[in-house]
Amino acid sequence: MDRQQMNKIKLIGQSVAIQTVHRLVKQVAKTQANVLLLGESGTGKELVASIVHQESERSHGPFIPVNCAAIPLELLESELFGHEKGAFTGAHQGRAGRFELANGGTIFLDEIGDMPLVMQVKLLRVLQERSFERVGGNKPIKVDVRIIAATHKNLLSCIHEGTFREDLYYRLNVFPIDVPALRDRPEDIALLIRHFIEQYKHQNHTHDSIEFTVDAYELLGGYTWPGNVRELGNLVERLMILFSGKIIGVADLSEHCTLQQTRSSRREGKNLTVLSAPKILPNEGFDLKEHLAELEYAFIHQALNDNHGIVAKAARRLGLRRTTLVEKMKKYGICKEITTH
Ligand SMILES: Nc1ncnc2c1ncn2[C@@H]1O[C@H](COP(=O)(O)OP(=O)(O)OP(=O)(O)O)[C@@H](O)[C@H]1O
Ligand SMILES: [Mg+2]
Repeated sequence: MDRQQMNKIKLIGQSVAIQTVHRLVKQVAKTQANVLLLGESGTGKELVASIVHQESERSHGPFIPVNCAAIPLELLESELFGHEKGAFTGAHQGRAGRFELANGGTIFLDEIGDMPLVMQVKLLRVLQERSFERVGGNKPIKVDVRIIAATHKNLLSCIHEGTFREDLYYRLNVFPIDVPALRDRPEDIALLIRHFIEQYKHQNHTHDSIEFTVDAYELLGGYTWPGNVRELGNLVERLMILFSGKIIGVADLSEHCTLQQTRSSRREGKNLTVLSAPKILPNEGFDLKEHLAELEYAFIHQALNDNHGIVAKAARRLGLRRTTLVEKMKKYGICKEITTH
């Protein structure tokens, strides 16, 4: 893998729902269409936005995020469109706004559902005319910018309540992508945990890792994850600090985390790992080795899960010798602890 590929931002997950997001991202990235990302907090909307940019012809241009909810109304207009010298008290110099900075690239309007109505009118004008003026200026500025917007709100309800403009909604909603909640794709949890462990090890220059018992995985798979992937990332970081080099069981999880809102995945007869391989080979950027390793890992995990962690039974299910399975488990850092259930 070359350096550029290694630094590529990736959306981790093999679930059908994430594969669908992948497919939509690939389809829309090469176009100029505006994209609207919908999904709960922490599902990965900003990550998806940066991948759309990365996969587009604009990838060498800037990616400029703006959190519309975090900027006070009186600053938002100059933040987005810039201002001329003397436009308001304290404007000693002219300054470019985010739309100008994003020229040739992508602007990411996060939390668009929280944008005040007066700003929505101004944004609509930019979308229609692709030009705007700086605050206190009268020279129209033309920019070549792709717009990606995101919200965790239901925009149709906002329209109904009168807090979001319908005309702006239709301008932004050219290509909607729903980013799924983590509770709806528990089969991605094991891969995401592995990703966050590696990220933590890299950032903290450590070789120590953590492992989970099959029961602990099951508990995590049945949790509702109100904070979605962000919550899982934070949990892994906490566990790496608390249990570095150890195997984490259900008792450790219950002691150190509040995972009460669980659905029992076992009672629902749900497997943690249901796989969906991509049926169409993508034209570029496909890493067969990595994909096969992810498949292998997920199948081993599922076999162990179905057989309550009994390695001999899992090996039979996979058509492997017990020793081969043990070796593979070692390779993937899956612990050998046999649960009593
Ligand atoms: N599929 C994924 N693979 C790897 N990392 C992910 C994935 N989804 C989310 N993350 C990580 O989880 C964290 C939260 O993601 P992100 O900020 O994109 O969510 P968001 O939907 O924009 O949240 P919010 O609505 O709260 O702004 C980030 O650190 C992101 O890198
Ligand atoms: Mg976000």
